[in-house]
Amino acid sequence: MAKETVGLAAQAPATEEIAIEGFDHVEFYVGNALQASYYFHKGFGFDVVGYRGLETGERDLSSYVLKQKNIQLVLTSSLHPDTEIARHVSNHADGVKSIGFRVLDARKSYETALSRGAVGIAPPCQIEDENGSFVSAAIRTYGDTVHTFIERHNYKGSFPGYKAIDKKGNAQLGLLVIDHIVGNVENAAMEYWAEFYQRVFGFHVLQYFDAGDISTQYSALISKVMANKSRTVKMPINEPAEGARKSQIQEYLDYYRADGVQHIAVTTGDIIKTVSALRASGIDFLSVPRSYYEALTERVGKIDEDIDVLSRLGILVDREAGGYLLQIFTKPVQDRPTLFFEIIQRKGAQGFGKGNFKALFESIEREQALRGNL
Ligand code: FE2
Repeated sequence: MAKETVGLAAQAPATEEIAIEGFDHVEFYVGNALQASYYFHKGFGFDVVGYRGLETGERDLSSYVLKQKNIQLVLTSSLHPDTEIARHVSNHADGVKSIGFRVLDARKSYETALSRGAVGIAPPCQIEDENGSFVSAAIRTYGDTVHTFIERHNYKGSFPGYKAIDKKGNAQLGLLVIDHIVGNVENAAMEYWAEFYQRVFGFHVLQYFDAGDISTQYSALISKVMANKSRTVKMPINEPAEGARKSQIQEYLDYYRADGVQHIAVTTGDIIKTVSALRASGIDFLSVPRSYYEALTERVGKIDEDIDVLSRLGILVDREAGGYLLQIFTKPVQDRPTLFFEIIQRKGAQGFGKGNFKALFESIEREQALRGNL
């Protein structure tokens, strides 16, 4: 066991960043982990690499680990009603429970976070097994969501306690790494959570979007993007803003019944190939009106991709100082209009597609209206 670090961490200035290498994994609590793993395996092309459940000695839960390049998902469901997992699913339906941060020192990260006012959920736990040494610890963030610090150094497996599985996904998908994870929080709570990421993790405000940036005829939101220095972790925080109709953020909050993760953006090196494969495997995306593409060249200038192909696939483009980006958004990936995915290819642009917000939100609102929630 490493030596106690409480005293040292307590003296660290609040602005010093907790050293985070990047996103380690995202864990979902779901109603049926077996079927959810099939969806991400067949639909999104993930390899299934690990399993734990009754056969591995677990009495309360069943979990699958899925992997694609540097993206790891963990899908967990409860085996009986009397667990925190079952209560989470009963309240929120399928959704993100934990956003894992990979760190060099999980104990120090945890103690530093607590010394800066974070609430501990799971104290540091070190496991040594045939794959090496693995340390994890968790703190609370918005809603029922947690951040898990993961220290895995040379740990060879996915997670301790899992049986290795080798179920290969579709290699055509080409998803690379998590780019950002967006949280929706209740009205007037964005500042609180932005300050939380600043104070606890030493993150900075990378971008701010006010209601003027993100509004349509009907609804609005405001957003602050919190990030670490190396920008390997970007965490936008949205809150609903006043509009003529119900904000899409409010619709999320009504159905998730708490603050929580709205979308996970994953990068690809070839968005045309990725989205073609996703569509072929049955993943549904938000639709974009034809007029968006008619005005595209005028708005973003010359790009490498064929606009007819982008139009056929529904891929959006935005240009900013450093270059441009291509992005597309799935429809919600469960019955409730809560979590969805974004696929993004960055070609020099570091932003979030501000030029697409209007087209995107109008598309979301068309879906919202179909659900009777606008
Ligand atoms: Fe995004």
